[in-house]
Amino acid sequence: MSDLAPQVRRRRTFAIISHPDAGKTTLTEKLLLFSGAIQIAGSVKARKASRHATSDWMEIEKQRGISVASSVMQMEYRDCVINLLDTPGHQDFSEDTYRVLTAVDAALMVIDAANGVEPQTRRLLQVCRARNTPILTFVNKLDREVQEPLALMDEIERELGMTVVPFTWPVGMGKVFGGVLDLRKDQMRVFTPGEDRVAGTEEIVDGIANPSLATRFGAAYEQASGEIELVRDAAPAFDEAEFLAGRQTPMFFGSAVNNFGVQEVLDALVDLAPPPGDRAAIQRTVHPEEPKFSGVVFKIQANMDPAHRDRIAFLRVASGKFERGMNLKVVRSGKTLRPNTVVTFMSQKRELLDEAFAGDIIGIPNHGVLQLGDTLTEGEALQYTGLPFFAPEMFRMVEVADPLKTKQLKAGLQQLGEEGAIQVFRPVAGSVLMLGAVGQLQFEVVAHRLEHEYGCKARISPCRFQIARWVTADTGEGAAADERELNRFIDANSHRMAHDAVNAPTLLVEYAPELRAIESNWPKIRFHALREHA
Ligand code: G4P
Repeated sequence: MSDLAPQVRRRRTFAIISHPDAGKTTLTEKLLLFSGAIQIAGSVKARKASRHATSDWMEIEKQRGISVASSVMQMEYRDCVINLLDTPGHQDFSEDTYRVLTAVDAALMVIDAANGVEPQTRRLLQVCRARNTPILTFVNKLDREVQEPLALMDEIERELGMTVVPFTWPVGMGKVFGGVLDLRKDQMRVFTPGEDRVAGTEEIVDGIANPSLATRFGAAYEQASGEIELVRDAAPAFDEAEFLAGRQTPMFFGSAVNNFGVQEVLDALVDLAPPPGDRAAIQRTVHPEEPKFSGVVFKIQANMDPAHRDRIAFLRVASGKFERGMNLKVVRSGKTLRPNTVVTFMSQKRELLDEAFAGDIIGIPNHGVLQLGDTLTEGEALQYTGLPFFAPEMFRMVEVADPLKTKQLKAGLQQLGEEGAIQVFRPVAGSVLMLGAVGQLQFEVVAHRLEHEYGCKARISPCRFQIARWVTADTGEGAAADERELNRFIDANSHRMAHDAVNAPTLLVEYAPELRAIESNWPKIRFHALREHA
């Protein structure tokens, strides 16, 4: 066992996935409260951005400083160090969210018990499924009149394609919500409404078959007992391997706003969620307990503090031990960094960090040295894979209103592109830059930031393209032949080819049939809707 093993094994790194309003903010705050990371409720909630105001970017901007600082929260609970990564709430930022999900080892899915599985949850879950991320499920808002638990369980199984294993089961709901039966500990935890209760003060009745429960909770208890019998017959037993492969999800019921069920979730994260595991790099697989440091940049945020025009690269430690002041090599560029002011994100404070282990997130302030997908090491040439970029679905042309500001526009777009806020394409033939996004809000954000952070008003106009595909060649005759074929393709299609921020050649077309025709005419060219940074 290496010296690092105890540190690695006590790390848990996860994100909450949910549809807006299911209770992610509330639950985040309660997790921090129950772990003792914050003392008073209300501090996380206060920072919640007005995410529904899609046109009102100014408001989001105002909140950005705070929301970014709390985008990673670290808490200690029992023997574990738990890193909770926030995912941007608005669906237009989903690309950013997908990348955050590449940095976690587990996800906590929050379902609003009244609404069941909602679209945003479904999308995020697909990303987790693609990566076999283990999922814990928290069904929230049992203090309201909601759907029947059996119906919810069925919906989750059908819609999300996972087997659900209930760990707790609700007795009643809404006005007659009595609490939950804990099927593993064989006890009932009785519900009392209120936000002030803390850990360990709940009333517990031993034995889920305890006759006093029937007397006290009447019909609600009878119904719950009947349902549990059904579930016990129908649902398979919890299987750790199935859970770790993302095929089985343990399900918990509660009410986050009433602090009810929160502690079970914390305990489940410690007991069930996996510590950091192996990570694939192009060259080899890296073990988290290896002594040498390595990590990967999964998110970049510019100008967090308007007073310092810095950018913060969020890096997930993949192996070894990070110490402040150590030399780090940026493998892509070969440059060396010696970050002295590294930040960690604890609750709302940015705090200086001295050491970090696999699973931890560190923030490295820099001026454009680091890009999304960059791997940092102590010297080894390693490149982690798997950071996804999705082909944009909306396109615009972008020009400066004042031609004297062309330089600022280029610099601004370069940085915003590297940050992942937008995708920027340089056409092979022509000089007008193009922007690609997955949501309309991204264009508004970019226009606003170009004006306020880079001092150039941009003119953003419609563009005829609707589909983008990254292209590579695969001739089966070696790299030189591939390159020739790719160049032949680019020359033949120069009127609809562009290069993105990392110079990857991209085909832009107007209609799906056009794409299909090109695909069948060029059998040795591969067309990719997803680019993994490499
Ligand atoms: P989100 O981050 O997933 O978008 O959700 P958030 O926590 O902000 O919760 C959305 C709404 O649901 C909030 O109400 C919150 O108080 C409420 N909520 C969260 N958990 C529970 C629960 O267990 N039971 C009930 N009944 N409500 C819950 P809001 O009216 O939008 O905001 P606020 O006025 O309460 O701040």
